[in-house]
Amino acid sequence: MDGGARLQPHDVAKMRAAGRLAAALLDMVAREIRAGMSTQDIDRLVDDMTRARGAISAPYRYHGFPGHCCTSINDVVCHGIPDPNRILREGDIINVDVTPILDGFHGDASRTFMIGAVPAAAQRLVQDTYRALWKGISAVRPGATTGDIGHAIQCFVEPRGYSVVRQFSGHGIGRVFHTAPAILHYGRPGTGERLVPGMTFTIEPMINLGDWRCHILREDGWTAVTVDGSLSAQFEHTVLVTETGVEVLTLGADEALAIEPPPAQLSGDTLLAGNSL
Ligand code: MF3
Ligand code: CO
Ligand code: CO
Repeated sequence: MDGGARLQPHDVAKMRAAGRLAAALLDMVAREIRAGMSTQDIDRLVDDMTRARGAISAPYRYHGFPGHCCTSINDVVCHGIPDPNRILREGDIINVDVTPILDGFHGDASRTFMIGAVPAAAQRLVQDTYRALWKGISAVRPGATTGDIGHAIQCFVEPRGYSVVRQFSGHGIGRVFHTAPAILHYGRPGTGERLVPGMTFTIEPMINLGDWRCHILREDGWTAVTVDGSLSAQFEHTVLVTETGVEVLTLGADEALAIEPPPAQLSGDTLLAGNSL
Protein backbone atom coordinates (compact mmCIF):
# COMPACT_ATOMS: atom_id res chain seq x y z
CA MET A 1 0.00 0.00 0.00
CA ASP A 2 1.58 3.30 -1.09
CA GLY A 3 0.41 5.64 1.63
CA GLY A 4 -3.31 5.39 1.15
CA ALA A 5 -4.13 5.84 -2.53
CA ARG A 6 -5.82 2.44 -2.48
CA LEU A 7 -8.07 2.26 0.54
CA GLN A 8 -8.72 -0.79 2.69
CA PRO A 9 -12.47 -1.41 3.07
CA HIS A 10 -12.50 -0.60 6.79
CA ASP A 11 -10.94 2.80 6.09
CA VAL A 12 -13.63 3.88 3.64
CA ALA A 13 -15.85 5.12 6.49
CA LYS A 14 -13.00 7.29 7.78
CA MET A 15 -12.36 8.81 4.35
CA ARG A 16 -16.09 9.50 4.04
CA ALA A 17 -16.06 11.32 7.39
CA ALA A 18 -13.01 13.40 6.44
CA GLY A 19 -14.62 14.24 3.09
CA ARG A 20 -17.87 15.24 4.77
CA LEU A 21 -15.95 17.59 7.06
CA ALA A 22 -14.17 19.23 4.11
CA ALA A 23 -17.58 19.80 2.49
CA ALA A 24 -19.05 21.19 5.71
CA LEU A 25 -16.15 23.62 6.02
CA LEU A 26 -16.80 24.94 2.50
CA ASP A 27 -20.55 25.13 3.17
CA MET A 28 -19.69 27.27 6.21
CA VAL A 29 -17.36 29.48 4.15
CA ALA A 30 -20.11 29.86 1.53
CA ARG A 31 -22.44 31.23 4.21
CA GLU A 32 -19.88 33.59 5.75
CA ILE A 33 -17.80 34.93 2.86
CA ARG A 34 -18.49 38.52 1.82
CA ALA A 35 -16.90 41.79 0.70
CA GLY A 36 -14.99 43.51 3.50
CA MET A 37 -13.59 40.31 5.02
CA SER A 38 -9.87 39.58 4.83
CA THR A 39 -8.53 36.26 3.62
CA GLN A 40 -7.08 35.90 7.14
CA ASP A 41 -10.67 36.06 8.46
CA ILE A 42 -11.52 33.08 6.23
CA ASP A 43 -8.48 31.22 7.52
CA ARG A 44 -9.65 31.81 11.10
CA LEU A 45 -13.15 30.53 10.36
CA VAL A 46 -11.70 27.38 8.77
CA ASP A 47 -9.23 26.78 11.61
CA ASP A 48 -11.87 27.31 14.33
CA MET A 49 -14.42 24.94 12.80
CA THR A 50 -11.76 22.33 11.98
CA ARG A 51 -10.62 22.25 15.63
CA ALA A 52 -14.21 22.25 16.90
CA ARG A 53 -14.78 19.04 14.91
CA GLY A 54 -11.69 17.41 16.42
CA ALA A 55 -9.64 17.65 13.22
CA ILE A 56 -6.51 19.51 12.16
CA SER A 57 -5.75 21.50 9.02
CA ALA A 58 -3.31 19.63 6.78
CA PRO A 59 -2.04 22.75 4.96
CA TYR A 60 -0.75 24.37 8.17
CA ARG A 61 3.06 24.03 8.19
CA TYR A 62 2.84 21.64 5.23
CA HIS A 63 6.28 22.21 3.65
CA GLY A 64 6.19 25.46 5.62
CA PHE A 65 2.83 26.76 4.35
CA PRO A 66 1.70 29.43 6.85
CA GLY A 67 -2.11 29.14 6.56
CA HIS A 68 -4.84 26.63 7.44
CA CYS A 69 -6.35 26.87 3.97
CA CYS A 70 -5.45 28.38 0.60
CA THR A 71 -7.19 31.58 -0.51
CA SER A 72 -6.55 32.29 -4.19
CA ILE A 73 -8.05 35.47 -5.66
CA ASN A 74 -8.55 36.41 -9.34
CA ASP A 75 -5.25 35.78 -11.18
CA VAL A 76 -3.96 33.57 -8.36
CA VAL A 77 -4.12 29.99 -9.66
CA CYS A 78 -3.63 28.23 -6.31
CA HIS A 79 -1.76 28.27 -2.98
CA GLY A 80 -2.70 31.87 -2.12
CA ILE A 81 -1.69 32.65 1.48
CA PRO A 82 -4.33 34.04 3.88
CA ASP A 83 -3.45 37.67 4.59
CA PRO A 84 -4.98 40.19 7.04
CA ASN A 85 -4.32 42.96 4.51
CA ARG A 86 -6.09 41.36 1.55
CA ILE A 87 -9.69 42.51 1.85
CA LEU A 88 -12.33 40.92 -0.38
CA ARG A 89 -13.95 43.34 -2.80
CA GLU A 90 -17.11 43.09 -4.82
CA GLY A 91 -16.25 41.54 -8.19
CA ASP A 92 -13.45 39.29 -6.86
CA ILE A 93 -13.47 35.56 -7.43
CA ILE A 94 -11.74 33.54 -4.72
CA ASN A 95 -10.94 29.87 -4.41
CA VAL A 96 -10.92 28.53 -0.85
CA ASP A 97 -9.17 25.15 -0.55
CA VAL A 98 -9.51 23.16 2.69
CA THR A 99 -7.99 19.86 3.80
CA PRO A 100 -8.97 18.63 7.27
CA ILE A 101 -7.29 15.54 8.73
CA LEU A 102 -9.91 13.61 10.71
CA ASP A 103 -9.02 10.36 12.49
CA GLY A 104 -5.88 10.08 10.37
CA PHE A 105 -7.50 10.62 6.95
CA HIS A 106 -7.51 13.64 4.62
CA GLY A 107 -10.54 15.22 2.92
CA ASP A 108 -9.52 17.75 0.24
CA ALA A 109 -11.94 20.09 -1.52
CA SER A 110 -12.14 23.59 -2.90
CA ARG A 111 -14.65 25.94 -4.49
CA THR A 112 -14.40 29.28 -6.21
CA PHE A 113 -16.73 31.87 -4.68
CA MET A 114 -17.94 35.03 -6.38
CA ILE A 115 -18.01 38.16 -4.21
CA GLY A 116 -21.13 40.14 -4.98
CA ALA A 117 -21.70 40.94 -8.64
CA VAL A 118 -18.78 39.77 -10.79
CA PRO A 119 -18.17 40.49 -14.50
CA ALA A 120 -20.00 38.13 -16.88
CA ALA A 121 -16.76 36.62 -18.21
CA ALA A 122 -15.61 35.77 -14.68
CA GLN A 123 -18.99 34.24 -13.86
CA ARG A 124 -18.82 32.06 -16.97
CA LEU A 125 -15.29 30.96 -16.09
CA VAL A 126 -16.37 29.92 -12.59
CA GLN A 127 -19.43 28.03 -13.83
CA ASP A 128 -17.53 26.29 -16.60
CA THR A 129 -14.71 25.29 -14.24
CA TYR A 130 -17.30 23.65 -11.99
CA ARG A 131 -18.74 21.82 -14.98
CA ALA A 132 -15.21 20.79 -16.02
CA LEU A 133 -14.67 19.17 -12.62
CA TRP A 134 -17.85 17.14 -13.11
CA LYS A 135 -16.77 16.10 -16.61
CA GLY A 136 -13.68 14.64 -14.96
CA ILE A 137 -15.67 12.95 -12.20
CA SER A 138 -17.97 11.43 -14.80
CA ALA A 139 -14.97 9.66 -16.41
CA VAL A 140 -14.15 7.76 -13.19
CA ARG A 141 -15.00 4.07 -13.11
CA PRO A 142 -13.06 0.80 -12.66
CA GLY A 143 -11.05 0.08 -15.79
CA ALA A 144 -10.86 3.71 -16.91
CA THR A 145 -7.49 5.48 -16.66
CA THR A 146 -6.26 8.75 -15.19
CA GLY A 147 -5.80 9.99 -18.77
CA ASP A 148 -9.52 9.53 -19.41
CA ILE A 149 -10.21 12.03 -16.62
CA GLY A 150 -7.82 14.64 -18.00
CA HIS A 151 -9.11 14.13 -21.52
CA ALA A 152 -12.72 14.69 -20.45
CA ILE A 153 -11.76 17.96 -18.75
CA GLN A 154 -9.56 19.23 -21.58
CA CYS A 155 -12.21 18.42 -24.24
CA PHE A 156 -14.79 20.44 -22.33
CA VAL A 157 -12.57 23.41 -21.49
CA GLU A 158 -10.49 24.18 -24.58
CA PRO A 159 -13.30 24.53 -27.17
CA ARG A 160 -14.77 27.19 -24.89
CA GLY A 161 -11.57 29.22 -25.24
CA TYR A 162 -10.11 28.55 -21.78
CA SER A 163 -6.83 26.85 -20.94
CA VAL A 164 -5.95 24.06 -18.49
CA VAL A 165 -3.14 24.70 -15.99
CA ARG A 166 -0.43 22.05 -16.35
CA GLN A 167 1.95 22.68 -13.46
CA PHE A 168 -0.48 21.38 -10.84
CA SER A 169 -2.52 18.19 -10.77
CA GLY A 170 -4.91 16.17 -8.66
CA HIS A 171 -3.39 13.46 -6.48
CA GLY A 172 -3.93 10.27 -4.58
CA ILE A 173 -5.05 10.96 -1.00
CA GLY A 174 -5.82 9.02 2.16
CA ARG A 175 -3.60 8.78 5.22
CA VAL A 176 -1.15 10.81 3.11
CA PHE A 177 -2.06 14.27 1.73
CA HIS A 178 -0.40 13.97 -1.69
CA THR A 179 0.51 10.58 -3.14
CA ALA A 180 0.40 8.70 -6.45
CA PRO A 181 -1.27 8.78 -8.88
CA ALA A 182 -1.02 12.28 -10.36
CA ILE A 183 -4.35 13.25 -11.90
CA LEU A 184 -3.53 15.52 -14.84
CA HIS A 185 -6.40 17.74 -15.99
CA TYR A 186 -5.49 17.24 -19.66
CA GLY A 187 -4.35 14.20 -21.62
CA ARG A 188 -5.12 11.29 -23.89
CA PRO A 189 -7.73 8.55 -23.32
CA GLY A 190 -6.31 5.22 -22.16
CA THR A 191 -3.04 6.69 -20.89
CA GLY A 192 -1.84 6.87 -17.29
CA GLU A 193 -2.78 4.60 -14.43
CA ARG A 194 -5.75 2.21 -14.52
CA LEU A 195 -8.46 2.94 -11.93
CA VAL A 196 -9.49 0.17 -9.53
CA PRO A 197 -12.11 0.03 -6.75
CA GLY A 198 -10.84 1.43 -3.45
CA MET A 199 -8.62 4.14 -4.95
CA THR A 200 -9.12 7.63 -3.53
CA PHE A 201 -7.82 10.73 -5.29
CA THR A 202 -8.65 14.33 -5.99
CA ILE A 203 -9.73 16.00 -9.21
CA GLU A 204 -9.06 19.75 -9.06
CA PRO A 205 -8.88 21.51 -12.43
CA MET A 206 -7.43 25.02 -12.51
CA ILE A 207 -8.82 26.78 -15.59
CA ASN A 208 -7.54 30.10 -16.95
CA LEU A 209 -9.31 32.71 -19.05
CA GLY A 210 -6.01 33.29 -20.92
CA ASP A 211 -2.66 31.51 -21.06
CA TRP A 212 -2.32 28.24 -19.11
CA ARG A 213 1.15 29.07 -17.78
CA CYS A 214 1.71 30.31 -14.27
CA HIS A 215 4.64 31.21 -12.06
CA ILE A 216 5.22 31.22 -8.32
CA LEU A 217 5.77 34.56 -6.63
CA ARG A 218 9.35 34.83 -5.49
CA GLU A 219 8.51 36.89 -2.41
CA ASP A 220 6.59 34.07 -0.69
CA GLY A 221 7.53 30.92 -2.61
CA TRP A 222 3.88 29.75 -2.69
CA THR A 223 1.45 32.00 -4.56
CA ALA A 224 0.98 30.73 -8.12
CA VAL A 225 -0.29 33.42 -10.52
CA THR A 226 -1.12 33.38 -14.23
CA VAL A 227 1.76 34.74 -16.34
CA ASP A 228 -0.59 37.00 -18.31
CA GLY A 229 -2.61 38.26 -15.33
CA SER A 230 -5.77 36.53 -16.59
CA LEU A 231 -8.38 35.14 -14.19
CA SER A 232 -8.12 31.56 -12.93
CA ALA A 233 -10.81 29.42 -11.28
CA GLN A 234 -10.70 26.01 -9.57
CA PHE A 235 -13.00 23.43 -8.00
CA GLU A 236 -11.84 20.27 -6.23
CA HIS A 237 -13.48 17.09 -4.99
CA THR A 238 -12.05 13.98 -3.35
CA VAL A 239 -13.46 10.83 -4.98
CA LEU A 240 -13.51 7.08 -4.32
CA VAL A 241 -13.51 4.53 -7.14
CA THR A 242 -16.32 2.05 -6.37
CA GLU A 243 -17.11 -1.36 -7.90
CA THR A 244 -19.53 0.30 -10.31
CA GLY A 245 -18.32 3.88 -10.73
CA VAL A 246 -17.46 6.76 -8.45
CA GLU A 247 -18.47 8.16 -5.09
CA VAL A 248 -17.77 11.83 -4.42
CA LEU A 249 -16.65 12.13 -0.79
CA THR A 250 -16.75 15.94 -0.51
CA LEU A 251 -20.22 16.80 -1.84
CA GLY A 252 -21.61 20.07 -0.53
CA ALA A 253 -25.12 20.57 0.79
CA ASP A 254 -26.16 22.00 -2.59
CA GLU A 255 -24.82 19.11 -4.61
CA ALA A 256 -26.37 15.73 -5.41
CA LEU A 257 -26.25 13.26 -2.53
CA ALA A 258 -24.40 10.43 -4.27
CA ILE A 259 -23.23 9.40 -7.70
CA GLU A 260 -24.62 5.86 -7.76
CA PRO A 261 -25.54 4.26 -10.15
CA PRO A 262 -22.62 5.12 -12.45
CA PRO A 263 -22.02 8.68 -13.59
CA ALA A 264 -22.89 8.16 -17.25
CA GLN A 265 -26.51 8.70 -16.24
CA LEU A 266 -25.73 11.81 -14.21
CA SER A 267 -23.79 14.29 -16.29
CA GLY A 268 -22.31 17.45 -14.79
CA ASP A 269 -25.04 19.35 -16.59
CA THR A 270 -27.77 17.39 -14.82
CA LEU A 271 -26.19 18.06 -11.46
CA LEU A 272 -25.75 21.73 -12.25
CA ALA A 273 -29.46 22.12 -12.85
CA GLY A 274 -30.17 21.79 -9.14
CA ASN A 275 -27.12 23.73 -8.00
CA SER A 276 -26.93 27.30 -6.85
CA LEU A 277 -23.91 27.95 -9.09
N1 MF3 B 1 -5.20 21.55 -0.83
C1 MF3 B 1 -4.21 21.70 -1.86
C2 MF3 B 1 -4.45 20.61 -2.85
O1 MF3 B 1 -5.50 20.57 -3.39
C3 MF3 B 1 -2.82 21.66 -1.34
C4 MF3 B 1 -2.46 22.79 -0.49
S1 MF3 B 1 -0.86 22.55 0.07
C5 MF3 B 1 -0.52 23.98 0.85
O2 MF3 B 1 -3.69 19.72 -3.08
F1 MF3 B 1 0.59 23.77 1.47
F2 MF3 B 1 -0.46 24.95 -0.06
F3 MF3 B 1 -1.49 24.26 1.67
CO1 CO C 1 -5.78 18.49 -3.65
CO1 CO D 1 -7.10 21.12 -2.09
